[in-house]
Amino acid sequence: MKILGISAHYHDSAAALVIDGVPVCAVQEERLSRRKNDAGFPLSAIEWCLEHAKLDPSDLDAVVFYERSMLKFERILTCALRAFPHSWRSFPHAIKNTLGEKVWVRGIISSHLGVPRHKILFTDHHASHAAAAFLTAPTRRAAILTADGVGEWATLTVGQGERRADGTTEITLRREIRFPHSLGMLYSTVTAYLGFNVNEDEYKVMGLAAYGRPTMIEQVRKVIRRLPGGAFALVPEFFEFQTTADRSYSSKFVDLFGPPRHRYEPIDLGSPDGHRFADCAASVQQVLEEILVDIAARLRRETGLSDLCFGGGVALNGVANARILGDAGFDRVFVPPAPGDAGCALGSALYADRIYFRNSDREVPDHPFWGPPVNGHDLARAAREDSQGVEELDESRLIERVAGDLAAGRIVGWMDGAAEFGPRALGHRSLLAAPHPCGIRDRLNRDIKRREEFRPFAPVVPIESADQFFELPPGGARLARYMSGVFPVRREWRSRLAAVTHVDGTARVQVLERDMAPRLHALLEAYGRRTDVPVLLNTSFNVAGEPIVTQALEGYLTFRRCGIDVLVAGSTVVTKPAAAPATSLKESGTWSSSSAAASTVV
Ligand SMILES: [Fe+2]
Repeated sequence: MKILGISAHYHDSAAALVIDGVPVCAVQEERLSRRKNDAGFPLSAIEWCLEHAKLDPSDLDAVVFYERSMLKFERILTCALRAFPHSWRSFPHAIKNTLGEKVWVRGIISSHLGVPRHKILFTDHHASHAAAAFLTAPTRRAAILTADGVGEWATLTVGQGERRADGTTEITLRREIRFPHSLGMLYSTVTAYLGFNVNEDEYKVMGLAAYGRPTMIEQVRKVIRRLPGGAFALVPEFFEFQTTADRSYSSKFVDLFGPPRHRYEPIDLGSPDGHRFADCAASVQQVLEEILVDIAARLRRETGLSDLCFGGGVALNGVANARILGDAGFDRVFVPPAPGDAGCALGSALYADRIYFRNSDREVPDHPFWGPPVNGHDLARAAREDSQGVEELDESRLIERVAGDLAAGRIVGWMDGAAEFGPRALGHRSLLAAPHPCGIRDRLNRDIKRREEFRPFAPVVPIESADQFFELPPGGARLARYMSGVFPVRREWRSRLAAVTHVDGTARVQVLERDMAPRLHALLEAYGRRTDVPVLLNTSFNVAGEPIVTQALEGYLTFRRCGIDVLVAGSTVVTKPAAAPATSLKESGTWSSSSAAASTVV
């Protein structure tokens, strides 16, 4: 059975293809359209999925949309009418926006793909999140928690899933919290208040929180109240997102927290305002963690299950995920590589396969690499046409050569195999660098990522060495498989891992098993042999404001216009003539000098 899943029209559109119960491919529209957070109908992603599987739309047994658009429309309409007359200005905009494309999804899918309308199915938004989390995790029974901004009405659900021995699958979402009461909306409101982009920059709030102290926790508790049974409610007078699209927080919110930050105002952590913004971030982060831990702990007691699958955009909060793992009583917490709405494309297709069609349970490969593959020959061709030196190396020489470059302080663009599905680079579209000197971090920030100083970079470490450098609790390595948890760097290693250690001594570490990305694993080992520290800085391969690169040519163009020194795709290596001098890492004493293997320049 061939099932196409689609998420679209809110943010992070995506398509995913499931054939005979197993994912075949999945890609976010932005990776192909090159428009960050592309929310349009994911025609390019659908075309690529079908081409990749050599299918025509007529071959599809079903096309599944990741939410019920009519229910969502009902929610928008109801909220606008409830808020009338305060909503009179935003009402026409909301209705036009919704009526324009979001309601008539069946017609849009049918006309774009030419599939008959009866083949087009809809799942509940949070069922898609739940399926993306549970049906991709290597567990047979688990509690399920989903939390995001909002789907149709639900903003948080709790339940459980079971893959039975007879091949049937059950996902039961028992309770939900409904809009406007939403942890995601609370976090997004603070994101907007702090001058960042909503639905895009929430992780900046998490990064900023480490610089603050939760001194404003009482204020946060005034805007989100706890209810008996673990639920919560946003206090409407502090929010405006339900009445207008112009601003998510009210003047009462400003009275409580002080003037908001203007988006172009730099955050000076030495100033009183900078302090206040960091404290605000720390306070909302702490309350979010407390509520999630409480809800998860109740779920643990209710279900008696030892595994938790956590999905929805809130599950991108690695600090909260680590708190849940540590404090809610679960042995293992599974967060998929794409817990947000893009991942719902895969979730909805799997949900339709297992639950709607009652197809037999299948193991889903435990990796994030469902996107378009990279081709080293394309890189070689582009670089040669551009009169750049191109090297073609066999595997062992390439690994040694790149390990030498990294040890020499060079920044490497690393493209390998199929692209990751999800917002994080997990070793197939990564920028890699030495994790030691802060100079590297500053260079990456200044020349490539052009991002705020307070945002940390993440490390990647082989699973065999993870405990040596990071304080991972039981289950921590699993959560760190997809960079979904933030854990302490061991104190004695913090200065040697300065470029990847956040101000509070933590890191959003990726713990890598060889099977998942063998080439990166080999590179880490080779780098470790040279430096005694098999850890690399791993950040997504993109420049500020752009999606992560997909094809070799995009990687090459990015390499050419920013401070990346070396670019790798397949067996092809391209090095800038003026690559960073091999001097910046000498101070640590244990470094060997760069010993790039002799190679053939083609
Ligand atoms: Fe969602």
